[in-house]
Amino acid sequence: MTSNVDRCTDLYSWCTNMTKLEYIVTPKRVEEIDADTLVVFATKKEDKPVVPKYIKGFVGDLLDDIINAKEFKGDEGEVYLLRVSGKFKRIVLAGLGDSPSYESIRLATAGFINKLTSTKAEKILVDMSNVPSGLDEKKALMDLVIISEMTLYDPGEPYKTRDKKELGIKKIIVKTSGEDLSPIIEKVKLIADAVNYTRRIADAPANYMNPEKIEVEAKKLAKQYGLKIKVYHFKDLEKMGMNGIIAVGKGSSIEPRLIILEYRGREGDDWDYAFIGKTVTFDAGGLNLKPTGYIDEMKYDKSGGAAVLGIMKAVASLKLPLNVIGALPAVENLPGPTATKPKDIVKMYNGMTIEVGNTDAEGRIILADTLSYIDKNYKPKLMFDLATLTGAIVIALGNYAAGLFTENDEVAEKLYKLGLETGERVWRMPLWKEYYDQLKSEFADINNIGGRPAGAITAAAFLSHFVEDKRKWVHLDIAGTAWVQKGHPKKPYYKPAATGFGVRLLIYYLLEKHGFLFK
Ligand code: BES
Ligand code: MN
Ligand code: ZN
Repeated sequence: MTSNVDRCTDLYSWCTNMTKLEYIVTPKRVEEIDADTLVVFATKKEDKPVVPKYIKGFVGDLLDDIINAKEFKGDEGEVYLLRVSGKFKRIVLAGLGDSPSYESIRLATAGFINKLTSTKAEKILVDMSNVPSGLDEKKALMDLVIISEMTLYDPGEPYKTRDKKELGIKKIIVKTSGEDLSPIIEKVKLIADAVNYTRRIADAPANYMNPEKIEVEAKKLAKQYGLKIKVYHFKDLEKMGMNGIIAVGKGSSIEPRLIILEYRGREGDDWDYAFIGKTVTFDAGGLNLKPTGYIDEMKYDKSGGAAVLGIMKAVASLKLPLNVIGALPAVENLPGPTATKPKDIVKMYNGMTIEVGNTDAEGRIILADTLSYIDKNYKPKLMFDLATLTGAIVIALGNYAAGLFTENDEVAEKLYKLGLETGERVWRMPLWKEYYDQLKSEFADINNIGGRPAGAITAAAFLSHFVEDKRKWVHLDIAGTAWVQKGHPKKPYYKPAATGFGVRLLIYYLLEKHGFLFK
C-alpha cells in the first residue's frame, strides 16, 4: 500500500514536461491550414470590433448581425463562439479592447481556451498575424503558449480519483506574420512547464510536500538536469551555526533542511545569480499559533521555494549561459514540544543575535541565515529572494502586485517594467533607515518583529541585516500574489490555486537582461 506521503514522489512525473498541447507556428494562409476551429483577435475601435475581413468568408452575414446587435463588442477579455459549417466548425472572436496590451493577449488566450474546453474542438488555428502594432509578435506568441498551458493547469489532477476530464483540445496552430517564430516554441514550452511545476509544488498539501519531500523533488530536478545539489540536515546546520533555520524547524518531527542547487551554464567559478525561496511547507505559526481563518491556507507558505525550483528548472532546461544558485530553507513551523518559544534568543549564522518576539515571524529567520550563507560562500552578483513573508504586504498592495524591496534602482526599474509586461506586477517599497528602529530589542541585537505599522517593510529591514551589500539583493514579498486568495483579481488563466508568481517575471528578467530569446 502506498501512503499519502509516498504518493507525493509521483509528483515529479506529473511535474515534468507537462505541456498538454502540441504547438505549431506557420505563416501559411488560413485556407491552407488543417484545423477545426479558427480563433481571431479583435480590437475595438469607435465602439465596434475590428476583425480580419476574411472571416466573413467563413461566417457570412451572421458577422454583421452579431456586430450590429452588439453581441460581440471586441472588449478586452470578451470571447464569442460561433458554430458554423464549412472549412471550420467553430469560429471564436476574442476581444483585445481598444488599447491592447500583453495582458489583453493573455485574457483572450485564456478566454478561448476556457471556452473551447467545453466543445469538441481538437485542432485550433489561432490567427495572430493581426497582433496590434506596439506589441511584439514574439512576446505575444510566448504569452499565447504559456497562458494556454497555465489555463489548462488543473490543481486537482494529481489527487482526484473520479470525474477525470479528458482534454479534447490537442493542437494549437498559430499563424504569424513576419519572421519564422517556430524555433522558439520548444523553449517557450519549457517556461510554461516551469510555471506549472512551481504551481504543482506550491499547491501540494502539507502531507504530500514536507521538508523531506521538498528534498526528494529537488534531488529529482538535480538529476534530470545535471545540477549539483547540497542538502544540509539538522546536524549539519547545527555545526554550521545556522541556528535560525534550526530555531524555526525544531518544533516539527520532520527535520529542517537547507537545500542548495548549483547550475553552471558557463565557464568560470563565480556566480551570477542566486534565487532564494522561503520554503515553509506549513506555517502553523509555531507557539504563536495561527487562529482558524489564518492557518487554513498556510500550505502555500512554500510558494517562494516552489518558484525557485521552477526558476532553476527553466534556467537549466533553457541551458542559459549563466551560473545560477537556487537555495531553499525548508521547514515546518509547528508548535511541537521542542518548538522555539517567544522571547528565545538565537545566534544566527552571521553572528548576530535575534530575539524571537513572535514565532510566527519565521520566514525572515530562515531567509536571514540562507541569505548570509549564500552571500558569504557564493558571493553572487545579485541575490533575489521570494517569500510569502507578511500579511502586511497584502494589506498594503492587495493581490494586484508583489512588494519589491531593493536598493538597486536599475533592477527595480527593470522588474517594474517587466511586471507590467508579464502581469506579475511589482511595486517598490522603501527601505528607509527610520524603519530599522522598530526592530530594536533590549536583549538581542534585533527583534524579529517590528510592530503593526509598516509590517512588510520592517520584515524586509530585518532581512537586510543579513546581506553585506544591499545593492546586490532584491526581496519580493509574494504573500498576496502566490495563490488566488479571497479578493484576488479574477484572471481566467488562474484557478483558485497557486499562480506560480515570480517564475515568469524572473525568467523574463534573465532573458531580457542577457538578450536571450528576446531583447
Ligand atoms: N506566512 C506568513 C505571512 C502570510 C500571511 C502569507 C498571510 C500569506 C498570507 C508569515 O510567516 C507570518 O505569519 N507573518 C506574520 C508576521 C507577524 C507575526 C509579525 C504576519 O504577517 O502576520
Ligand atoms: Mn508565520
Ligand atoms: Zn510564514
